Amino acid sequence: MVKQYIEKNKDRFLSELFEWLRIPSISADSRRKLDVRKAAEFLREKLLTAGADKVEICETKGHPIVYAERIVDPSKPTVLVYGHYDVQPADPLDLWHSPPFEPVIKDNKIYARGACDDKGQVYMHVKAFEAMMKLNLLSCNVKFMVEGEEEVGSDNLGIFVKENKSKLKADVILISDTALISLEHPSITTGLRGLSYMEVEVTGPNRDLHSGVYGGAVANPINVLCSMIASLHDENGRVTIPGFYDRVVELTEADRIALNKAPFDLNAYKRELGIDDIKGEKGFTTLERTGVRPTLDVNGIWGGYTGEGAKTVLPSKASAKISMRLVPNQQSAEITELFTKHFESIAPGNVKVKVMAHHGGEPAVTQTESASYEAASNAFEEVFGKTPIPTRDGGSIPIVALFKRELGLDTVLMGFGFDSDAIHSPNEHYGINNFVLGIETIVAFYKHYSKK
Ligand code: BES
Ligand code: MN
Ligand code: MN
Repeated sequence: MVKQYIEKNKDRFLSELFEWLRIPSISADSRRKLDVRKAAEFLREKLLTAGADKVEICETKGHPIVYAERIVDPSKPTVLVYGHYDVQPADPLDLWHSPPFEPVIKDNKIYARGACDDKGQVYMHVKAFEAMMKLNLLSCNVKFMVEGEEEVGSDNLGIFVKENKSKLKADVILISDTALISLEHPSITTGLRGLSYMEVEVTGPNRDLHSGVYGGAVANPINVLCSMIASLHDENGRVTIPGFYDRVVELTEADRIALNKAPFDLNAYKRELGIDDIKGEKGFTTLERTGVRPTLDVNGIWGGYTGEGAKTVLPSKASAKISMRLVPNQQSAEITELFTKHFESIAPGNVKVKVMAHHGGEPAVTQTESASYEAASNAFEEVFGKTPIPTRDGGSIPIVALFKRELGLDTVLMGFGFDSDAIHSPNEHYGINNFVLGIETIVAFYKHYSKK
């Protein structure tokens, strides 16, 4: 019944999603403020027509939050769906094969910024809700909270959650904003990494200098920054910041075996990324390196002359953006502090160093022995014919830890993207099969969860 409904309405679902994807809701770009709001209003409309009895655009200091609910029976359990309608900036634009905000279908995949992260996945929930309303299948309460600032740190969502605890009263949080191993091997994410995001600035002389006149006699901030950054890892790929690993929960042998049971093809992985070899902390597998080990990476570095041709210049300043992915039980604030102290301490006396913290977020582990996980597992089994494998994802959704802390709620991470969907990259895409199967699985989740 559900399958037929989706099949019959699939083209409309897709054309609606395309309309949403055409709105460039880039939260980081202040010039897109109105577009971000437009994307919120689009969602409000769709939730209303799908059958919500209340939909609100909740103002924040930043971009608005879309809240909706359908209360079937207050004595029944409530599912709170969380997602985000904001997207990452689309640049570098010239690397897109088709414009990021003009969605197209190629090889049965939707290409557009936000196709997978997270508009495409949020829209599965909207359409699953519509299907359940139309087919009279919704047997528990549902609330939606979809924000427009996930990609910039969810600062205002934290405040919203703290101020609206009774409105957000629910029994479980349901999120589709993570990855699936493959359609042959469905999986449920049971852990996410946290984040500390830093920016550093190294200043040398009070102005850019001629690199011949002064070169060799004055510290070059770019050279200094590079050696400082290089020293942040040792020869075993471990981060050298004192105390960095102190709180890291080491996995038991049984946990490691379980984690590495997930199918992983190293050759396919290398091929897909166009690399000849991988790299990471010694003694850990790739799945462990991205799932349960903390990391430090430079995300951007700049300074000096980068224009056309050659300009002989010894720059006054050099900067870098550095992210650290955290695992249980590391704490973002503490790691930020350890980084700051360490980075300042390794600065040579011939430069000045400034360290600034951007947003952070805590790591999260979700339950696997709960009614909600079981319902999700049963839903995957029903739709994919296989028991889903629990996996740890390397990305971050800081709000998961916040939900647990502020609302005492567990989250089920039922994501349908693939790691290879190029989220945050040019040519982001999302499989139409993922979209369709996702809707089916979500409907099945409600069915199993309501029975518990
Ligand atoms: N959906 C991603 C996180 C993600 C991606 C989790 C893939 C699991 C698998 C989310 O939109 C995101 O990009 N989060 C940011 C963190 C945020 C604080 C900016 C991230 O992970 O960089
Ligand atoms: Mn996301
Ligand atoms: Mn993202």
